[in-house]
Amino acid sequence: MRIYSAIQPTGSIHLGNYVGAIMNWVKMQEEGECIYGIANYHALTAIKEPKKLEERVFEAALDLLACGLDPEKCSLFVQSHVPEVTELTWILSCCAPMGELNRMTQYKDKSAHMEIVNAGLFTYPVLMAADILLFKADTVPVGEDQLQHLEVARVFARRFNLMFGEVFPEPKPRLTKATRLMALNDPTKKMSKSVEGSAIMLSDPDSVILKHVKRAVTDAGPGAAQDQMSPGVANMFTLLKVFSAPETVKYFEEQYASGSLRYKELKDALGRDLVAALAPIRERRSELAAKPERIREILHESARRLRVIARQTIAEVREAAGLGVTPEF
Ligand code: TRP
Repeated sequence: MRIYSAIQPTGSIHLGNYVGAIMNWVKMQEEGECIYGIANYHALTAIKEPKKLEERVFEAALDLLACGLDPEKCSLFVQSHVPEVTELTWILSCCAPMGELNRMTQYKDKSAHMEIVNAGLFTYPVLMAADILLFKADTVPVGEDQLQHLEVARVFARRFNLMFGEVFPEPKPRLTKATRLMALNDPTKKMSKSVEGSAIMLSDPDSVILKHVKRAVTDAGPGAAQDQMSPGVANMFTLLKVFSAPETVKYFEEQYASGSLRYKELKDALGRDLVAALAPIRERRSELAAKPERIREILHESARRLRVIARQTIAEVREAAGLGVTPEF
């Protein structure tokens, strides 16, 4: 099994990203050959400040390694370090009908608010398909929001194989059992970095984590069904299930069922367990941050390994499509 996934380096990772995706990446390291990308070509569709883009790539690498990606067990790389992906993007885009891309809901949502829409945003799913297919990955862990893009990648693989001969395996999505974390201060909305006070960041000190939990909204708001768990309490149970011992979860579930749950007690337990889980990540993060050379080394080593696969695939693709080999000068 070859597993591929990537994230855009849009800033530091928060608790929602960790629970929703990264924990799963860490787990999958034991299941197959894992390739994880920091998608900076994708991020270029949005970020036009070179310094910022570079910093964010570095931050993403820091966060991912601190969360437990192990360079001995997976390849963590920066997308632009394997430029073959752009060549494959071009070739695939020549086989991609505009109509197919026009249907992408993420494109429609994002472009709706923009005055000028760059072509990269439109062909974003082609780059994503190239990303996956270049490494001939067969398993792609993604969240719900990327399923449509992955379906397109499957269509591209199938079409290419039909037109030019069998080159690509069809990548299958592995839908991460959606642990969707809501904002503690507004449990009707997804935890988001761009909303002030919404996200717990992995670099937050204990006091900040505890403050978030202490202030977590628990009441259901006006008009809510009385017999249902409020979104805020449900969200705390989601966190409890990830970070606390099964006995703790069971204890509070029983308390809730018997109508004697005390929010203060729940928050104290959750705060304690969250801090215990996040403190080592934060410590690892600051240790790594002090060794930028080591981070670079890890990323470069992965890229060197992956380019061997990338060149091999590109050679097959070129031959299949009638583009020939690059002459040696
Ligand atoms: N588009 C994905 C996102 O924004 C990131 C991504 C880029 C990706 N290439 C990928 C995800 C390949 C899975 C596979 O979340």
